[in-house]
Amino acid sequence: MSIYLDNAATSYPKPDCVLEAMRRYFEDIGANSGRSAHKLAQEASRLVFETREGIAKLVGAKDSSRIIFTLNATDGLNTAILGSLKEGDGVITTSMEHNSVMRPLRFLEEESGIKVDVIKCSKEGVLEPDDIKKKITQNTRLIIATAASNVVGTIMPIRDIGRIARKHNIPFLVDAAQTVGSFPINVEEIDMIAFSGHKGLLGPQGTGCLYIKEGIKLTPLKFGGTGSRSEFEIQPDFLPDKYESGTPNLIGIAGLGASVKFILEKGVENIRRKEEKLTEYLLQKLKEIKKVIIYGTQDSRKQTSVVSINIKNMESSDVGDILDRDYDIGVRCGLHCAPIAHKTIGTFPSGTVRISSGYFNTEADIDYLSRAIRKIAQ
Ligand code: ALA
Repeated sequence: MSIYLDNAATSYPKPDCVLEAMRRYFEDIGANSGRSAHKLAQEASRLVFETREGIAKLVGAKDSSRIIFTLNATDGLNTAILGSLKEGDGVITTSMEHNSVMRPLRFLEEESGIKVDVIKCSKEGVLEPDDIKKKITQNTRLIIATAASNVVGTIMPIRDIGRIARKHNIPFLVDAAQTVGSFPINVEEIDMIAFSGHKGLLGPQGTGCLYIKEGIKLTPLKFGGTGSRSEFEIQPDFLPDKYESGTPNLIGIAGLGASVKFILEKGVENIRRKEEKLTEYLLQKLKEIKKVIIYGTQDSRKQTSVVSINIKNMESSDVGDILDRDYDIGVRCGLHCAPIAHKTIGTFPSGTVRISSGYFNTEADIDYLSRAIRKIAQ
């Protein structure tokens, strides 16, 4: 693949230090963490601890034990949603969510009769926070919002929603899959936050985190060995062990530790500035091409580096196929696992061509892409 523009699905390439850390784990450590007491096991435990500390620093968590390692953002969202809602509860969410939020909610709606209120966003994916306020009832037990849409990149007013949730004493869960690593996050302002390690954090697949604020009680979805309190047959009630049963993804955690260090060194603000500039450039280039329809805010200050487009009278999948086959450019087309977001922006069921640049893309990549799109549009 000569030009990779699918970083919203997973980031590529990864920094060299990630590969080195993973190789080092396999070659020099290899042992399980938190279980045995030998030197290699201690080294593995230290690696897990250091990665957790790095993530805590990145997201502003005072207590790193409240950062739970998960497989991905979906895994963390499922733990937060299924672990906190019960029969008769009400939940409020937005019409820009990914299926990682909508599917567990629709499952619970069907199985346990929870009431799901979806706040309609504008065609640009913009949410009016006061609309959430209007839907709060005495049964509302959870508010969920994505930090930014994976379809059009629109940044959500997370601070404002958090303020509303706090005022009404309702836990607030954020899906930060599309923002972690390139936007500053302060988890202390949120009750639960789920994100993956393989997108903006530039780490390997199979890694993710769920932050759970003190006072939030969740029923674990998994029970089993934690290497702690092994004399008891019941699950430990302290974090992170309560939610981390079974051998962790140590090779992934090794890579994630290195990628988080890389991001801390570069600085999240600097990463955001770089990505915002490239998004601005991309939007400007796309706006010059006749027949290209751009969705979302079309304003790099109000969105991530995700840009969704269509070419008039063409299927998004055909555009994606031509970009791949004739130009060696990788993008993601269709519905991006977020049918409700496409309904909101008016592109359901055909979807869009999603261009998502990442930390390692350049203006030259955007120039090449825009030339290709111009030719396809002609
Ligand atoms: N959720 C990821 C995406 O938007 C996989 O492509």
